[in-house]
Amino acid sequence: MAAAVARGGVPAAPRGEVVDGIPAGVSPVELAAMDRALELAAGGPAHGPNPRVGCVLLAADGRVLAEGRHDGAGTRHAEAAAVTAARTDGRDLRGATAVVTLEPCAHTGRTGPCAQLLLEAGVTRVLHAVDDPNPAAAGGAALLRAAGVDVVGGVRRSEGEGLLRVWLHAVRTGRPFVTLKLATTLDGRVAAADGSSRWITSSEARAHAHTVRTEVDAIAVGGGTAAADDPSLTARDADGTLAAHQPLRVVVGSAGLPDTARLRGPGGELVHERTRDLPAVLDRLARREVRHLLVEGGPTLAAAFLRAGLVDEVHAYLAPVLLGAGPAATGDLGIASIDGAMRLRPRLLRVLGPDVLLVADVDGRAGPGTSRPPVPARASASQPPDAQPSGAQPAAPAGES
Ligand SMILES: NC(=O)c1ccc[n+]([C@@H]2O[C@H](COP(=O)([O-])OP(=O)(O)OC[C@H]3O[C@@H](n4cnc5c(N)ncnc54)[C@H](OP(=O)(O)O)[C@@H]3O)[C@@H](O)[C@H]2O)c1
Repeated sequence: MAAAVARGGVPAAPRGEVVDGIPAGVSPVELAAMDRALELAAGGPAHGPNPRVGCVLLAADGRVLAEGRHDGAGTRHAEAAAVTAARTDGRDLRGATAVVTLEPCAHTGRTGPCAQLLLEAGVTRVLHAVDDPNPAAAGGAALLRAAGVDVVGGVRRSEGEGLLRVWLHAVRTGRPFVTLKLATTLDGRVAAADGSSRWITSSEARAHAHTVRTEVDAIAVGGGTAAADDPSLTARDADGTLAAHQPLRVVVGSAGLPDTARLRGPGGELVHERTRDLPAVLDRLARREVRHLLVEGGPTLAAAFLRAGLVDEVHAYLAPVLLGAGPAATGDLGIASIDGAMRLRPRLLRVLGPDVLLVADVDGRAGPGTSRPPVPARASASQPPDAQPSGAQPAAPAGES
């Protein structure tokens, strides 16, 4: 076994071993730098076609030379931001270590290849958390290794993949990650018998839902909801002020929209998909670089997405309200028996005013009818009540949808 490598003045585990998921040879100083890089990445925009990435440059003695973050398509990549910051401060990067949350890219897109940039800067060691699954950009690690750089992948891999969950899904599958939002009464209804539904959930829950809207690339509703609720589908704060980022507004269904529809007002671009072919809708949205789609109902569209196995995650806002009549959260899922129930995997539970938000993952692409073993709940009432989904923060109350 090779001798332990001292980096940043702290001995690292011997090479060739993996301890607690950490590749051998990675020092505590480098791990701390990766934690910082993940923190930087998390501060980047959650929406948009590009991943959130953070980078920390370390001197051979473990000092931090510079930090960088990617702020979305068209801006510098995290590595370039860090190298620029180091140069601005007159820092010499020869012999430095780059600690970055995603494998440095090897392609020229809206910006140049980061692997080449690190090489030219004199970086001799690169640690990354997540391998780049994008065929157009991958190959950075190989390029660096071929040039003699010491490259270690998989450092804090699960944390990195957790942060990039939506983006990784979109790149790997070629379709947007789909979050289905349900806002229901205790008896699972999304509207009263007369069709009225404002409001089932509290201002706190609606504020949270508006924050989620600022993190997605597109919001979809069915034609039934567009007609019944006349929603604006914008992301707003308590005063009704529009957020800086407005997702695309997608209506799925053949019925026309009146000229006076709020959806034609200020907000994101309106896309009317006059079809029931949901894979085709997702395909077109993917080609518009939509990575994350939020489906906000109604029950017919929700059921169609679920039946097609196209939902990846559910945000269920549950209000302590009873209606006793009115439409259920989803239409018919084609499930005849309890054996065929769709069982989701709870991930987060959070109290929002009088309401509760449950975030649950939908595993695989299988639709209902697939027999799935019950999955023990990982999130429960015993968890801290402020466990947060998708990095979303609570926001001030917002108005109508
Ligand atoms: N509480 C909540 O969170 C919430 C949220 C949303 C809605 N709602 C309530 O839900 C009610 C409206 O629900 P809804 O079920 O009538 O409307 P919906 O689900 O919004 O829209 C149904 C329409 O979607 C179109 N569609 C597109 N793709 C489809 C597919 N693959 N399969 C089937 N239909 C497809 C169809 O229009 P075409 O026939 O024109 O093709 C269908 O008629 C309202 O009362 C609203 O207030 C509540």
